[in-house]
Amino acid sequence: MTNFHILTLFPDMVLQGLRESIIGRAEKAGFISLEALNIRDYTQDKHKKVDDYPYGGGAGMLMQAQPVYDAYLEAERRITERKMREARPDKRRNRVIYVTPQGCVFHQEMARELAEEEDLIFLCGHYEGIDERVLQTIVTDYVSIGDYVLTGGELPAMVMVDAIARMVPGVLTNQDSGETESFSDHLLEYPQYTRPEIWNGQAVPPILLSGDHAKVDAWRLEMAKERTRERRPDLYAAYEREHPVK
Ligand code: ADE
Repeated sequence: MTNFHILTLFPDMVLQGLRESIIGRAEKAGFISLEALNIRDYTQDKHKKVDDYPYGGGAGMLMQAQPVYDAYLEAERRITERKMREARPDKRRNRVIYVTPQGCVFHQEMARELAEEEDLIFLCGHYEGIDERVLQTIVTDYVSIGDYVLTGGELPAMVMVDAIARMVPGVLTNQDSGETESFSDHLLEYPQYTRPEIWNGQAVPPILLSGDHAKVDAWRLEMAKERTRERRPDLYAAYEREHPVK
């Protein structure tokens, strides 16, 4: 069970996006929980302002420390309250992930590791960023989804929550599919086929109809290697390092 707490200026976008499909089903079934706190609800500004100009000048606006910090404190308060209600107080620090291009790049192993946490707090930035002082005070992990810049942290947070949630036990109905897919063991997934046997003049590879499971497995491994070598030579190099030919 992982509880996701998302601090954002666009809670509906995040929740509506995530509650579609598998992640929504997993929440209903109680394998995960999702909550989004609207940072704007925590501003002390009478005009509900959450941003201001950067000291030293420069383009754009920054999110101010106060509303971000107070939204964070509310998320922490709810987590503590839940644990007290369940009579299991817990002194460990919760992971607070700031989604930012100034972070390490997210990958499958990280998704697997984060899926073991009971609570995860995501902080989504907007404008040109967030006042450094609140980041230094609350953030434990700075994570990017890739070397490109988006207009806000919501999409990256949704990407990460989706990838992490599907690694939480029970979320995927076929438990196997979390293991035998792309990136487990440094290989991309092998090609797959379903009915009909011939589509658009193209037949399914005959070996898949042979019923010989050992041969099918060997073929799939070869296909996975070939595809990885062609499309992701960087991954393939890692695979070869871990599987030296004797
Ligand atoms: N915010 C804007 N761009 C981002 C990215 N690539 N990854 C994470 N957060 C972001």
